[in-house]
Amino acid sequence: MKVRIVADAAAQARLVADLVEQVVRSTPRPVLGLATGSSPLATYAELVRRHRAEGLAFEHCRVFLLDEYVGLTRHEAGYRSQIRRVVTDAVGIPPDAVQGPDGDAADLDAACAAYEDRLRASGGVDLQVLGIGADGHIGFNEPASALGSRTRPVVLTARTRADNARHFDHPGDVPRLALTQGIGTILEARHLVLLAAGAAKAGPVARALEGPITAMVPASALQLHPRVTVVLDDAAATDLRLADHHREVSSLEASHRYGVGP
Ligand code: GLP
Repeated sequence: MKVRIVADAAAQARLVADLVEQVVRSTPRPVLGLATGSSPLATYAELVRRHRAEGLAFEHCRVFLLDEYVGLTRHEAGYRSQIRRVVTDAVGIPPDAVQGPDGDAADLDAACAAYEDRLRASGGVDLQVLGIGADGHIGFNEPASALGSRTRPVVLTARTRADNARHFDHPGDVPRLALTQGIGTILEARHLVLLAAGAAKAGPVARALEGPITAMVPASALQLHPRVTVVLDDAAATDLRLADHHREVSSLEASHRYGVGP
């Protein structure tokens, strides 16, 4: 696991945008896995800037969402609408190349199975952007999700609904159900990039990176993956026992210009 600790949101956005740019430039038909939430917003803005100012082209990319609320797939507050609004429309990725699990389907289990089929048919996700919830969730895999879980309907915890209420007019508008890629599904992406910023994420980040692998902290499953990059600001790294070591690895890597294995 590579852990990069940077000063602020702008540095975080540049670093993650560099990783996305490498994939977009070097892969004929890149598959990007995009997350919603506040954590990746500065990165998406940086990608839009590179598209407009530097001509970075995205038309050949396909996008798969991590998760979606039930009942909001065709709604402004739905995750597919959000991703289109903040990034894909602005960088020229066609709407039909942006896919998510269909939270409006009559048969939600069938919609999840169909989503897994579409992910598999795409050849799999090249780079998956992830945030982390206050309770350690990734996607909408709440604590106690099976580490091998697949895309499925889930019930959101009261904590997650409260955390996400800021995106809705009324707290009661937050759906109780969502569809999410499973932890097992997420782990199949070729490169996982976890972003976290701010003191509120310090605890969940430390539990995910330095605690035991446990279903009670879904993000701890990242420890099983061979290629993970975690990009933190100083505040989100506060509780890491190995923070200084990670800083040393980064500075050695920068000065020697070689890749240090995770
Ligand atoms: C939501 C999303 C997650 C996201 C998390 C953290 O629950 N389903 O994918 O990572 O919130 O959000 P934020 O980045 O706003 O802290």
